[in-house]
Amino acid sequence: MAQGDAELEARLAEQDEFEPAEEFVAQANVSDADIYDEFEENWPGCWERAAEMLDWDAEYDEVLDDSNPPFYEWFTGGELNACYNCVDRHVENGDKNRVAIKWEGEHGETRTYTYQDLYREVNEFAAALRDLGVEEDDVVTLYMPMVPELPIAMLACARIGAPHNVVFAGFSAEALATRMNAADSRFLVTCDGYYRRGDPLDHLDKTNEGLDSVDHGVDATVVVDRLGDDGFGHDLKGNQHDWDDLLDEQSGERVAPVERDAEDMLFLMYTSGTTGQPKGVKHTTGGYLSYATWTSHAVLDIEKEDTYWCSADIGWITGHSYIVYGPLALGSTTVMYEGTPDFPNRDRMWEIVEKYAVDIFYTAPTAIRAFMKWGSKYPESRDLSSLRLLGTVGEPINPRAWKWYYEHIGNENCPVVDTWWQTETGGMMITTLPGVKNMKPGSAGPPLPGIDAQIVDTNGDEVEPGRAGYLTVNKPWPGMLRTLYNNDERYISEYWAEYSDTDSDDPDDWVYFPEDGAKVDDDGYITVLGRVDDVINVSGHRLGTMEIESAIVGVEGVAEAAVVGGNHEVKGEAVYAYVITEDGYEEGEDLRARIVEGVEDAIGPIARPEQVVFTPELPKTRSGKIMRRLLEDVANGAELGNTSTLRNPEIVEEIAAKVGAQN
Ligand code: WTA
Repeated sequence: MAQGDAELEARLAEQDEFEPAEEFVAQANVSDADIYDEFEENWPGCWERAAEMLDWDAEYDEVLDDSNPPFYEWFTGGELNACYNCVDRHVENGDKNRVAIKWEGEHGETRTYTYQDLYREVNEFAAALRDLGVEEDDVVTLYMPMVPELPIAMLACARIGAPHNVVFAGFSAEALATRMNAADSRFLVTCDGYYRRGDPLDHLDKTNEGLDSVDHGVDATVVVDRLGDDGFGHDLKGNQHDWDDLLDEQSGERVAPVERDAEDMLFLMYTSGTTGQPKGVKHTTGGYLSYATWTSHAVLDIEKEDTYWCSADIGWITGHSYIVYGPLALGSTTVMYEGTPDFPNRDRMWEIVEKYAVDIFYTAPTAIRAFMKWGSKYPESRDLSSLRLLGTVGEPINPRAWKWYYEHIGNENCPVVDTWWQTETGGMMITTLPGVKNMKPGSAGPPLPGIDAQIVDTNGDEVEPGRAGYLTVNKPWPGMLRTLYNNDERYISEYWAEYSDTDSDDPDDWVYFPEDGAKVDDDGYITVLGRVDDVINVSGHRLGTMEIESAIVGVEGVAEAAVVGGNHEVKGEAVYAYVITEDGYEEGEDLRARIVEGVEDAIGPIARPEQVVFTPELPKTRSGKIMRRLLEDVANGAELGNTSTLRNPEIVEEIAAKVGAQN
């Protein structure tokens, strides 16, 4: 490292607060600090600012109906169409030739969709869905990787008022079936396969396997031909249709966007929770779209002239809000990349930033840690001077990774927004407004204007600055989930019961609990510490330990299993599985391989255990509860916590010795 760099690193390492660059502030969408007070004084009316960013077919009567908490309704009586707002209005407003989607395939193929192109394909596919029998309110499942047909299908669904239910393409056949069953979904859009690190992957085979387990049967499946000649030669079955054939049939068709009530469902998204059964998070049209659009404008600072790139997968909420809905509602250019960050080379991301002159880049700490490990020579070999703002999401970012990102990607003049939010919140909740607030690496920042968050103890009393507690949100917000699909009771028990008076109909008695631990500093900046439920965060992906455990105990030869998250340099957390074998089965490579396979089959490769540790017993309290905390200590090679309440204290040392030997 050159002398200058060493000095720079040393200076950055010392600094714990960063001001946004003047040039950034001068052009920022939001740069007036009064916005915090304005939102507070005019709450909930302040949220009209978000709703006004959209075109409504019918004006809403009321901003918030909080008469039946926690079933809040936003912009009641209003009518709008999300697809119209993301596509048609830009075509009508003179922006039809502006690029909506820049798609970059893994091999460097590209596709460019102007808003006019998007309008045409979305209409044709909406017509095709109608012809296949999709009616308003039918849930359409989309099981697709990062191909342009995914956002096109989402928008086509929104156009005809059919909620979409996107299932991450890396999930297994079983996970697909679980989600289709839970959502009563009779329609599916998928693809033949896709590329990963140069090789074609067979996706249709996995899809078909999943479809076999959909209890209620499926009316129609649409298959995108992504692989062409590299395909696996599947024949389409009777109710399976080729995407291109359908579009050819509908060539030139137009479908009027249906007027949806603000509270009509826009989509479902399944996410992991404490129990084995994934939760169907329900988002509605008016509140969600207003919130995704407003936060894209205020936090990501997106303007329609911008080329914006979020490197998440659309199979997660980040891709929904900040690849598709927010950026398209604002009329900007959104970049979609099919592949992995290190294929064919480790400068792939920076090559794309350079090629498209990306203005705004939004990624995850796990990616930043990988970039950091690979070294700064990769970004240095590319021209990144187009960048104006950087963002991160998905897990806590440690100050060292933050500073690396700020220095090596942002050249010290791009603000970094560390955005805390969840599938359930629909959009960002806690982060700095980049044109207003200073940044503190390691801390997400204060709650956004209009968001009322607090750190409390187990009694719900606010804790002192600096002390760890539980994050809570005291007031509703437009982007919030409305319920868990078909399960109002679980909606209350998962998110509200902990800190609310659930008998009350006074909204002040209702508090949302995101199940994260956090602390706050004297300036009101919140540092999110991580999940406090049995959910672990592997490379920014939320996985339920119960889901993984139930996959493992489903493997022949396994008697009992406990799964915890252990620290991991790049992934943040990694899956550690402690397994007791059934009598008559041998611990060893064969069983280990079958366990890994069992997890991949039930969930997908993202949940693959980093380590499988065989043990004759699990550490249990006298009442028979597994002490996960100790298993976490073991996974982290940390000093073991108190074992005195255990029925079998000696087992912990034994397990620790095994993990030590495997590491
Ligand atoms: C974690 C992703 C710290 C948190 C949008 C949350 C974060 C869970 C941050 C939601 C952040 C997300 N700092 N932790 N900036 N962003 N998390 O539903 O534990 O996939 O509850 O939504 O990720 O994950 P989800």
